[in-house]
Amino acid sequence: MDRNPFSCEYQWGRLRCTVAHRKSQGPAAGSTRSRRKGLFVTFEGIEGSGKSTQAHALAQYLRSQGFWVVETREPGGTPVAEQIREVFLRPSRKLQAVDPLIPECEVALILAARSQHVANLLLPALQQGAIIVCDRFADSTLAYQGFGRGLSLRELRSLTRWAAQGLTPDLTFLFDLPVSQGLKRRLKSTDANRLDHETSAFHQRVRKGFLSLAKHPRRRIHTINASRSAQAISRQLITVVAPLLEEGLKTRRLALKQV
Ligand SMILES: Nc1ncnc2c1ncn2[C@@H]1O[C@H](COP(=O)(O)OP(=O)(O)OP(=O)(O)O)[C@@H](O)[C@H]1O
Ligand SMILES: [Mg+2]
Repeated sequence: MDRNPFSCEYQWGRLRCTVAHRKSQGPAAGSTRSRRKGLFVTFEGIEGSGKSTQAHALAQYLRSQGFWVVETREPGGTPVAEQIREVFLRPSRKLQAVDPLIPECEVALILAARSQHVANLLLPALQQGAIIVCDRFADSTLAYQGFGRGLSLRELRSLTRWAAQGLTPDLTFLFDLPVSQGLKRRLKSTDANRLDHETSAFHQRVRKGFLSLAKHPRRRIHTINASRSAQAISRQLITVVAPLLEEGLKTRRLALKQV
């Protein structure tokens, strides 16, 4: 991997990865699949649907098969984007009381984080042949801020295209289950966030939104019945990913870079 003065290292959660930063190559960078050697897989769905569990399991499996995997998430994935995540998900109670986040500000924060993530992690890693396993991406913006908050889908699509420099996933897993089941699973979690306080009606709109997005484009989005056991779901994901790996096997094997 070539290095330049923009190189940096960062860490979040279980992942430590090193990626050479590159200056933004303008709006067209990464917008065509032919420019990149890697594979971009995203995990979408409502709260508690099992995205993080399955993203990590798939990443582990792919690593065990010798692939270079970058495990990341949105909002977040770079140092600046992770700071934006905190503002987005965990503004202090005092801040929320005096200056609650409005939907437009949510979008602005998400897009600010996404632009950093795409330019400084996703595009460089994809260009170098990584398999990106990303917990949430642009479909969440459409589902939460579009269907959930009622902002214009057309505008959100255009803004997200701009912030992501045209980057779209090769494959998306949409984890679907009843809202009540997802929220029940979330109760086990210790990292409560702002969205946990949203109404059930909001989460229902988000779920319906995701399902409506999954109708088009069908080939990219695979809807997963997330009510099943974690093991059964993991097996299904591997069967979906396997043919894509075969396609690019030679370019993606560890010859490239192991983190
Ligand atoms: N298939 C499953 N069956 C039962 N419990 C599960 C399953 N998958 C994950 N869980 C549990 O449900 C909880 C939520 O899972 P996870 O954090 O992976 O969901 P998530 O979609 O990432 O949630 P969030 O949107 O809040 O980040 C965790 O406690 C996890 O262990
Ligand atoms: Mg999660």
